[in-house]
Formats: sequence, C-alpha cells, structure tokens
Amino acid sequence: MVDLNTAILKGESPRFASAPAVDAETPARTHRALEPEHGAAATSPRSAGLRAAPNALLGREADLAEVERLMTDARVVTVLGPGGTGKTRLAHEIGLRAAREIPVALVELAPLRSGADVVAAISSVLGIGEVELTPGTVLTRARVHDARDRLREALSSRPSLLIVDNCEHLIDDVAEVVADLVAASGQLTVLATSRAPMAITAEAVYPLSPLDIAESGSPATELFSIRAKAVRPSVRLDPAEVARLCRTLDGLPLAIELAAARVRTMTVEDINARLTDRFTLLRSGDRTSPHRHRTLYAVIEWSWNLLEPDQRAALRRLCRFPAGFTLDAAVTVAQWGEVADAAFAVEGLVAQSMLTVVEERAGLRYLMLETVREFGEEQLARGDEEVVVLDRTFDWAEQFCAVPCAGSSTATRLPSRARSIPSTTTCSPC
Ligand SMILES: Nc1ncnc2c1ncn2[C@@H]1O[C@H](COP(=O)(O)OP(=O)(O)OP(=O)(O)O)[C@@H](O)[C@H]1O
Ligand SMILES: [Mg+2]
Repeated sequence: MVDLNTAILKGESPRFASAPAVDAETPARTHRALEPEHGAAATSPRSAGLRAAPNALLGREADLAEVERLMTDARVVTVLGPGGTGKTRLAHEIGLRAAREIPVALVELAPLRSGADVVAAISSVLGIGEVELTPGTVLTRARVHDARDRLREALSSRPSLLIVDNCEHLIDDVAEVVADLVAASGQLTVLATSRAPMAITAEAVYPLSPLDIAESGSPATELFSIRAKAVRPSVRLDPAEVARLCRTLDGLPLAIELAAARVRTMTVEDINARLTDRFTLLRSGDRTSPHRHRTLYAVIEWSWNLLEPDQRAALRRLCRFPAGFTLDAAVTVAQWGEVADAAFAVEGLVAQSMLTVVEERAGLRYLMLETVREFGEEQLARGDEEVVVLDRTFDWAEQFCAVPCAGSSTATRLPSRARSIPSTTTCSPC
C-alpha cells in the first residue's frame, strides 16, 4: 500500500486513491484570460481534492502570477486575507494549473475541529489513511504505523504540491506539520490559505486584496452583475449603484455574492438602501456552501471566535475609526482593562486579517474593512464599554487636534465635548 501510494505520487497511477478528483468531463471555467490554461489541468490524472471551478474566476490574473512566482522561491506560501476574499478559489486555480506538471493534493481543513487530525486529513486525501502490511514490504511495522512517516515518504518521492486550505483555526498544528514535511522533503512545496500566517521560517505570505471596484467595469461589479442576472435575468443594473454597493461591501466576493442573491426580490437601489444593516440583509446563502459562508455575520464571526480576549476588546474599542487609526490612537482609546498592550493586540488583529496595514508619509495606519468595523460596533453595543470608549476617543481627538498640522501655526479647536459621536467620525492625520 505504501509503495502504491508512493507510485501514485510519482504520477504512475491513474488517480490519487480516495480523492474527489476533478471530473474529466467538466473542464474548469475561469475568467477570459485564464481560459486556455485549463483543459489539461482539469483532466489531470494526478490531482486529489481539486474541484472544478463552479463559475468564472474574476480579476485574479495578477494575484495568480504573483503567488506562482512566490512558489518558485519559497517552500511554503500562505495566501492570507479576511473571510470571503477568495483565498480558496485562488488556491484551487493554482492547484489546477500546477497539476499539469506535478502531483497536487488539496486538503480542506475547515471541517476539522482538532489539530490532532491534520495528518490524518492529509493522509486521507492522499489515500494513505489505512495501511496493510503486505509480505515483502521493506518498511518495519513500527514505521508503517507512524502516519507522519508515511506522509513524509509519500511526499518526498518527486516534486509535488500540497495545498492546505483554511488553516486558521488549527494554525499551530498545521504550522508544525508543514514545517516537518518540508524539512523532510526538498521536493515538496506547500500552498496554504488562511486568515492568519503560520509564522514558520519556510513561509512567504501573500495578502490577497478584495476585488477592484470601478463604475466603468471591474471584477467586483462584474461579479455582482453576473450573479444578479443568474437569479433574475431581467434585473436593471445601474453601473453607479452597482459600484456603490460593491464599495459598501469592501469588494469582498462573498459579500457581493450574498448581496446579489437578494436581487431575486429587490432592486439594486433597495439593497443599497438596506445595507446600513448589512448583517440582517446578507443572510441568504448558497445551500451547498459551508455554514460560515451562508451569512455575512457568520463569515466574520468565524474569525472573531479565533481571537484572544485582548484582541476582541481592541477590535470593539477601535471600530469607531472608519478611516483607520495610528498606534498612538490605539493606545489612547483601547489600552485599559483587558488590553494591557494595545500594540500587541493590534499586531494580533493584523495577523488574523482583521486589520490591514498601510504605510503613509505620516507613518503606519491600521484599517478595518467596513464589514469588520460594523461587526465591532455590534459587539461594542452589546457590552458596557461604550461610554468609556467614547470618552477615550474624545481624549485622543483633543490630543490630536492640539498638535499643529504641518504648514499651520495653530492647533485646531475641538467643539465642546458631546456625549455621543457618530459612528462615521473620520479623524485622520492632516
Ligand atoms: N475572483 C473571484 N471570482 C469569482 N468568484 C469569486 C472570486 N473570489 C471568490 N469568489 C467567490 O466568493 C466566495 C468566497 O470565496 P472563497 O471561499 O475562496 O473565500 P475565502 O477567502 O477562502 O473565505 P474563507 O476565509 O471563509 O475560507 C465563493 O463563492 C467564491 O466562488
Ligand atoms: Mg477559504
């Protein structure tokens, strides 16, 4: 059995044993520019766990090229990003393309509840879950029973690509297994998708951005239009309204798909008007999609549940900065009680893809997707910290305005302190 599986990985067998391999009759469908890449990959006899694309992949040509480039240099590449950005779609596409040359196995880790099952999940996709000792085998009994050894053996026989999808909830265990496998085999490359990095030396990360948005035509607006027409072909699509909707949803493909599903009973204008309460509106999902993708709330909640207590507290305290914040602002507003070190909590939120970092002339700035920010608002409203957060935000604003802007000799005066601030307060450096 071990020999058989090693042979499979060497490309000497028609298919990986137990894999739900891509149907040879159903070539993958992708965006125009990707179309020619596909036929061979979809019918590759050496792939395991890869699924044919359910529809066109939009706007990811540059990302595909960059991740493939990274994979030529780094042994482990992790595609990072918030929930619903399209990490899994990208990984499948890379797997399909790579499978024309080398054996590829894609292992979905989202359904696993324990890190102890990571090795078994990978082994199962490779078809080496059960081992029989056959006469003449050169392996000792102890070795055969060591699942990790069998995995190392199987993955070291020739260049191959292992894709581990949705690692975030088991990231420590996945990191340990992946580090071990790449150390055991110089021929193995690992591609991971995760909301958080593995933080191992072999790893290079690729933060995946949401889709580009433009009224004149863009991947985000195209995705909405295609999905909307699929549920109601007669839908009227005003380009400005569609672009506004995509902007409100941060260009997140999953959120755009959920919004498009509402076109069945609403106009695009109606949807835009109701997106003030996005979590209530965006809850009708594809019945075949995983639970965490059926509502927008569930997408963010999956990440929220993985945060440490200080990271949760920092997120709900910092969600009053729609235009982002600096580290100084984070310390003033969030560093008290549960948050002993705001810088550490912010670092954790960046690592969990709840914040992105932008470098501006004035320094680093941390941005929250609007969807994450509104989730934070909900959490803040549920607890008893709102008044303290408000007071601290005013403290920060007063300090900020007391510093004269470049080119001005006078500091700005704040109006007298109000008891409430609108959730859309946008204080940013001059
Ligand atoms: N570029 C794209 N073109 C078309 N559809 C896309 C694109 N990216 C993502 N989608 C669709 O958006 C949805 C979410 O994508 P995907 O599952 O890849 O997100 P993810 O980043 O892996 O999310 P999670 O972190 O929750 O696993 C899927 O239905 C997927 O088909
Ligand atoms: Mg995913």
